[in-house]
Amino acid sequence: MTLPVPGPAGDLLSERCELKILGEILAPERYRTAVAGADALLPQLRDRIDAATLDAAGSNLRVVSNYAVGLDNVDIPACTARGIYVGHTPEVLTDATADLTLTLLLAAARRVVEADREMREGRYFGWRPDYLLGQEVTGAILGVIGFGRIGQAVAQRAARGFSMRILAFDPAGVRPAASVEVEECSLERLLRESDFVTCHVPLTSQTHHLIGRSELAAMRRTAVLVNTSRGPIIDEAALVEALQSGEIAAAGLDVYEQEPEMSPGLADCANAVLLPHLGSATGKTRSAMGELAARNILAVLDGGAPLACANPEVSPRR
Ligand code: DGY
Repeated sequence: MTLPVPGPAGDLLSERCELKILGEILAPERYRTAVAGADALLPQLRDRIDAATLDAAGSNLRVVSNYAVGLDNVDIPACTARGIYVGHTPEVLTDATADLTLTLLLAAARRVVEADREMREGRYFGWRPDYLLGQEVTGAILGVIGFGRIGQAVAQRAARGFSMRILAFDPAGVRPAASVEVEECSLERLLRESDFVTCHVPLTSQTHHLIGRSELAAMRRTAVLVNTSRGPIIDEAALVEALQSGEIAAAGLDVYEQEPEMSPGLADCANAVLLPHLGSATGKTRSAMGELAARNILAVLDGGAPLACANPEVSPRR
């Protein structure tokens, strides 16, 4: 386990295994040395699980159980080729991440962070009709890019809580469930018509820079862009330019292209609300993620597949 995680994961694993907690994020070479001989790995999203890491771990390794739903840090084909299961933590973080997405959307739309700064820095001199005007949320059009679990949970909150009309585009062709009224459309139409655009796709070679310079140019000048998925989905340098020039109105970001760094200029954009990757950061959710990640490992040690498995085609080893 790379870092200690909240909840029962540590105890669950210690009852059955010799649990080694690295206690820090190691550079790839040190990580490879540290994992040599492991039967199971419980990495977090900053650990790179590539072919070299798998080979360094050695032939005992049976499961990589990522402490995240996103698997862009894990080379799944390399795991599958070596008969190593890949587990992850879907479902348990859907609500927390959808809640934070709405938090960012509202905060960016209503300029909450800018306004808070006005108060703290003594710049509020009394109510005015034209002071800190933002974008109306209720009844606006929300474009959801990526319509998996989190995208759908965001759409439900937006439609039921704020009477928003939902447009959806999923690059992998995921179809909307019946639980919320959605209009499927092309990315071009979604960008052209939406008042708010929110990204919920996994990071793959197809989704890298899905939102680039021309996509930003296609959006409304009053539009707000939200991203709680992975930073490289958006060309961050192009986004900074779009925020600076007023090509779009605002952004709410929880993830960055070169995390934990930000592109030059982003921190100076008053129209960006910036969070440090907190989508799943509630005690309840982080504990549930740990429990699921631990149970994924135990299921494999018991001769089965992880409960949440990204490569079920692997055959169980006994
Ligand atoms: C994930 O699970 O992929 C998030 O980014 C962290 O919870």
